Amino acid sequence: MRWWDVEQLAVVERELFPHDPWSAEQLWSELAHVPETRWYAVHEDSDGVDGYVGLMALPPEGDVQTIAVAPRAQGRGLGRELLDALVDEARARGCTQLFLEVLHTNDAAVRLYERAGFESQGRRRDYYGPGLDAVVMRLRIPSSEVAADG
Ligand SMILES: CC(C)(COP(=O)(O)OP(=O)(O)OC[C@H]1O[C@@H](n2cnc3c(N)ncnc32)[C@H](O)[C@@H]1OP(=O)(O)O)[C@@H](O)C(=O)NCCC(=O)NCCS
Repeated sequence: MRWWDVEQLAVVERELFPHDPWSAEQLWSELAHVPETRWYAVHEDSDGVDGYVGLMALPPEGDVQTIAVAPRAQGRGLGRELLDALVDEARARGCTQLFLEVLHTNDAAVRLYERAGFESQGRRRDYYGPGLDAVVMRLRIPSSEVAADG
C-alpha cells in the first residue's frame, strides 16, 4: 500500500463499512507507522484496488487491523489470499498470536477467519454500538514457524 492508494481505499471503506468507515486521515495515520509496527498490502484489478489488508505487529502479538474485498471481487478466494499473506508477514515479524475483532453478525468474515484457523475467544458487548457485539478471535502461530529475530 502506498500513499496514492489512500483515496481509493477510503471509497471502498465507505462502501463496505457504511457505519464506521476509516477516513483518508485514519488511513494516512496507519501508513505513518509502516514499516515499524504496521504492514499494509493492496490487491488491484483493471478497475483499481479490489482488496486490502492491514497488520499491526507488536511481537509476540499482532492484530488484524483491517481486511476488505470489494463486492465485485468477493467469493473468489481473494480474502483468504490476503489473510494468508498477513499471517506470513506476522510470522516473519516474530508474532506467535494474532487477534482480531469482528461484528458478531458478519458471517462471511467469521467463516473466513475460522477457515484460516482463528478461534473465538469470547464477545465484547456493544463494541460497535448498541446491540453490535464484537467476537474476539485468536490465531496461534506455532513458535517453531516464527522468525527467531522477529
Ligand atoms: C470478509 C471478506 C474479506 C471475505 O473476502 P472474500 O474474498 O469474499 O472471501 P474468500 O472468497 O477468500 O472466501 C474465504 C472463506 O470465507 C468464507 N466466506 C466468504 N464469503 C462468504 C459468505 N458470503 N458467506 C459465508 N462464508 C463466506 C468462506 O468460508 C470462504 O471459504 P470457503 O469458500 O473455502 O468456504 C469480504 O466478504 C469483505 O470484504 N467483507 C466486507 C468487509 C468485512 O466485513 N471485512 C472484515 C471486517 S472484520
